[in-house]
Amino acid sequence: MIQHQRPRRLRHNQAIRSLVSETSLSVNNLIMPIFINETITDKEPIYSMPGIYRHTIQSAIEHCKTIIDQGITACALFPGIHNEKKNSKASEALNINNFYYEAISKIKDTFPELLIISDVALDPYSSDGHDGLVRNDKIINDETIEILSKMALYQAKAGADIIAPSDMMDGRIKVIRETLENAQFNNTLIMSYSAKYASSFYRPFRDALESAPKKGDKKTYQMNPANRLEAIKEVQLDEEEGADIILIKPASQYGDIIRDIKEHTTLPIAAYHVSGEYSMIKAAAEKGFLSYEDTLYETLLSIKRAGANMILSYGAIDAALILSNKNK
Ligand code: PBG
Repeated sequence: MIQHQRPRRLRHNQAIRSLVSETSLSVNNLIMPIFINETITDKEPIYSMPGIYRHTIQSAIEHCKTIIDQGITACALFPGIHNEKKNSKASEALNINNFYYEAISKIKDTFPELLIISDVALDPYSSDGHDGLVRNDKIINDETIEILSKMALYQAKAGADIIAPSDMMDGRIKVIRETLENAQFNNTLIMSYSAKYASSFYRPFRDALESAPKKGDKKTYQMNPANRLEAIKEVQLDEEEGADIILIKPASQYGDIIRDIKEHTTLPIAAYHVSGEYSMIKAAAEKGFLSYEDTLYETLLSIKRAGANMILSYGAIDAALILSNKNK
């Protein structure tokens, strides 16, 4: 039979498949999140995130060496704080000598070339477990962003290269940008969690940090998973307010959002392949239902195909290894 079009010709062998491949995942696009914790004396595994640890500053430094050796150029640091230091004002966040600022500066001093992405939100320090101040069961926006902007400045002073507000308060990018500019931190980047959804996929992360909300949920500040246009609005505002990079999370279930945003912004896009997305693959692989390596690779590739320029993933080191084996 004569068939003029046979799409399979372009899939005939690996050489032609590589030649026509539309998307590629590279180690350059990967960011490794790291949990650092002041309550431990040695690194400890996180039960709901197989393969991921809570680190001391010292073990985080050793971990960063592995990250760099794999060719990854950026990490995102998340702090676990002593329960006794948490209060309703999240005051430990503004202690310039706190564990987090110390960790940032020690890692920066050890590896000046590794980009450090620091987290701006109150939840690690708040006894309420919310990203903003809580009063009468409400999350207070404008007082929160004053604190967030100070945190951002302390992080920049400690050596963070990229400030990443994950709190979803309104107007925080503007005050953070102004605070940084006023203090001459003109080259500090802001990676804004612009479209962060109120997602069930964050649970292992909250286990890892013991940062789950004590009461209520995060639906008055994180976005409704039903919405698309709202994500575009959030991105437009953050762009006007001074963001350099737009972050979307979760990632694999939100490929349509990544694509929508890609079509509406000229800024680089980061996607966060979050804790639950990672743990799901790990758990299925442990049961023998899926191949961890193949599923991780396909997932990250799909996030890239959706329009992400860079991906935060707990599988970043594993993905870097997979990529280097593929290139052999
Ligand atoms: C909190 C924060 C969360 C994550 C990053 N920063 C959880 C939350 O909003 O409750 C989730 C990341 C993950 O699940 O991997 N500011």
